[in-house]
Amino acid sequence: MKPEKAAAIVSTGRALPVGRVTNLDLEEIVDTNDEWIRTRTGIRERRMVNASETNADLSVSAARLALERAALRPEDVDLLIVATVTPDQPLPSSACLVQAKLNAYNAFAFDLAAGCTGFLYGLHVADKFIKTGSAKNILLIGVDILSPIIDWQDRNTCVLFGDGAGAVVVKEAKGSGGLKAARMFSDGSKAGLLYIPGGGTRLPPSGMVVEKRLHYVKMNGPEIFKFAVKIMAESTQQVLEMCAKSPQDLDYLIPHQANMRIIEAACKRLGIDLSKVLINIERYGNMSSASIPVVLDEAVEEGKIKSGDLIAMVAFGAGLTWGAALLEW
Ligand code: ACO
Repeated sequence: MKPEKAAAIVSTGRALPVGRVTNLDLEEIVDTNDEWIRTRTGIRERRMVNASETNADLSVSAARLALERAALRPEDVDLLIVATVTPDQPLPSSACLVQAKLNAYNAFAFDLAAGCTGFLYGLHVADKFIKTGSAKNILLIGVDILSPIIDWQDRNTCVLFGDGAGAVVVKEAKGSGGLKAARMFSDGSKAGLLYIPGGGTRLPPSGMVVEKRLHYVKMNGPEIFKFAVKIMAESTQQVLEMCAKSPQDLDYLIPHQANMRIIEAACKRLGIDLSKVLINIERYGNMSSASIPVVLDEAVEEGKIKSGDLIAMVAFGAGLTWGAALLEW
């Protein structure tokens, strides 16, 4: 029997705003300090867009790099997925804006909203399109611009997030490589742990929404923390078991970059040494859907990842959503 087709990430790219916000900068804005932020989260600085940079701009820059590295032209792309919860505008999708800017006129394009798990959800979806043969050259972008939706008066959230974009080209794997296993989950009963109450269709933009700061992110950090440690370890273990592998077989773990303490605790549960974990949270904070593709692109550029490496990716986010994927590079 012919083996099932699998998706492979054939190239990567990233785009980060030049604007840096350090922990010392935040000391000027809210009642916080560098020591608290570093020890509680591992973050030292994050990137922030200026008034003229948008979600679609960063997406296009990251995408151009990934396409060039895959030796593809924009018109070769047949599916364009933008994983994001921070589109430029409510309508149309960021994916359509990116398509126009790239001139990727042969693609069909859509946004995928799964909080910080968006990139992994997108990879799972891309794999299905490759498996069915309905797409051959998929551009998957993980992008989030959190700075405009964060309450800069709320020290519980404003220190955690940053802006950025990562892109990958997904094609059918050659040989034995590619996506080996993926499991995605959601639990909408936990929606109240991380949400924006206003600005949608239930509470449309109004003076009241803005006055009560309902258009900003609300988060129950400690509850998400406990949940994240548990499911990061469990879902990584699940995709490993699907392929009869153990944590010790991994060359790299790429976790969502939300909090260094979450990453450390999950790795402790899995028995994975931190030397095998790709981390850039100290420089960028939590960039939601962009976190995994950006740290992946950095590792590829640094030559860390080699052909044949076994890599697990794991994420959690608003929804709540979570999931893990196992790939042979
Ligand atoms: N600076 C100084 N003190 C602070 C700050 C700050 N920036 N933020 C909170 N504190 C205070 C709190 O007010 C509290 O003070 P109190 O005891 O007087 O009330 C104290 O520090 C301890 O607060 P905790 O919430 O217990 O701190 P904790 O150790 O849980 O760390 C944190 C908080 C960093 C938010 C942690 O819970 C966390 O990272 N949770 C996960 C959040 C997350 O990952 N969210 C993203 C999800 S992904 C997505 O979809 C976007």
